[in-house]
Amino acid sequence: MDYQTALASLFQAEGRLDPYPAYDVIRAHAPIFPAADRGWFVTTHALTTRLLRDPNLRLADAAAYDEFWPDWRENRGVASIVGSLLHSNPPDHTRVRRAAAATFTARRVAAMRDVIAGQAEDLIKAMPTSTDFVSAFAYPLPIGVICALLGVPESDRLWFRQRAADLTVVLEPVSTEEEMRLADVAGRELEDYFTGLIEERRRAPREDLTSALVAVHDDTAGAGLTGEELLSNLVLLLIAGFETTTNLLGTGIRILLEHPEQADRLRASPELAPAFVEEILRYDSPAQISGRITTGPLDLGDGIRLPAGAPMTMLLGSANRDPARYPDPHRFDPDRPNIAPVSFGGGAHYCLGAPLARLEAQVAFPLLLSMLPRLSLTGPGELRDRLVLRGYATLPVSTG
Ligand code: HEM
Repeated sequence: MDYQTALASLFQAEGRLDPYPAYDVIRAHAPIFPAADRGWFVTTHALTTRLLRDPNLRLADAAAYDEFWPDWRENRGVASIVGSLLHSNPPDHTRVRRAAAATFTARRVAAMRDVIAGQAEDLIKAMPTSTDFVSAFAYPLPIGVICALLGVPESDRLWFRQRAADLTVVLEPVSTEEEMRLADVAGRELEDYFTGLIEERRRAPREDLTSALVAVHDDTAGAGLTGEELLSNLVLLLIAGFETTTNLLGTGIRILLEHPEQADRLRASPELAPAFVEEILRYDSPAQISGRITTGPLDLGDGIRLPAGAPMTMLLGSANRDPARYPDPHRFDPDRPNIAPVSFGGGAHYCLGAPLARLEAQVAFPLLLSMLPRLSLTGPGELRDRLVLRGYATLPVSTG
């Protein structure tokens, strides 16, 4: 397979099922290269890590969207995400990220451990002998946790789950008209929902993250965080914390059950969970792509020169399987020294929820293995046909 065929396969449903052979081909071709109409692709661990941290690179923000899609604000699903941290640049990004980081603290995350364990135990106890792991566990746990964090009442969680699923399609480079229509509807409904929740928490603050973010907005008279930014970032927190973590749990349990000797080690020694979770993140990243744009000409040496405004696609899944960084990269090995996957991105936009996602997985996997010692896969499952967010739509398991 030549590198152009390999790259093209990533944009086709079949190639997406297992992108790793294609990554090997294009990584061997070059650490970075341009592709017609698709910008530049970055394939190696070293260059991905370096470029993610480069302060001269930007993300596609509202001004960039204005240039290639003047009507983007009419799709409220797109608008709510473009208005968030994920699509902003300094100085706005620096200001809003500071406000978000001040509220979404390590202490707040650590305090979620018991909530996560309690919800995980309840879901495990309710699991039928023969079931779909995604709908029985991998979906409800992250949505339950993020709703608890934001202060969304229990009764609204199912409603949230569908809206969040409809909205994540805006993160994909390719989508159908119908998917975009559903994203618009979900965006409108979530904006209305959070507008109501913000008002409620303003009147009667609680201990939740929504109340904390409302306080930053109100205490600074909107200077720390404008009303629009407050709304967009609440929507972002909901969707960013949901499908990605669902994918981590689904993919992770599949990897563990396919490596029973490793699963036995984790069952016997739950303190190994952090290393296992890092290796799961490396081996099959829930987020496969991060994007950046050059602000000016960028000289990378060896005659590689990018013009200003060049879009770059960092292939995180390829970087995580780079043999120059990880010997024998296609082997699942939680004992690897110094595992540092790029699955949460890097630099100023490094995933704000990484500590929470890690904690959920570190709590969930040992609990699943110890409470369900006979848990096994009963079929290959069905991968979601997505390029950016990689994970299972269904994964049949037996608990008995
Ligand atoms: C950003 C991955 C879970 C909130 C990101 C980025 C990636 C990512 C790749 C972009 C980073 C970049 O471009 O450098 C993941 C994965 C997760 C996960 C793989 C689970 C396994 C979460 C959770 C939350 C969250 C649980 C919140 C509750 C965010 C936010 C940003 C972000 C707010 C934007 C940060 C910024 O632009 O400053 N995530 N994420 N994520 N993530 Fe996550």
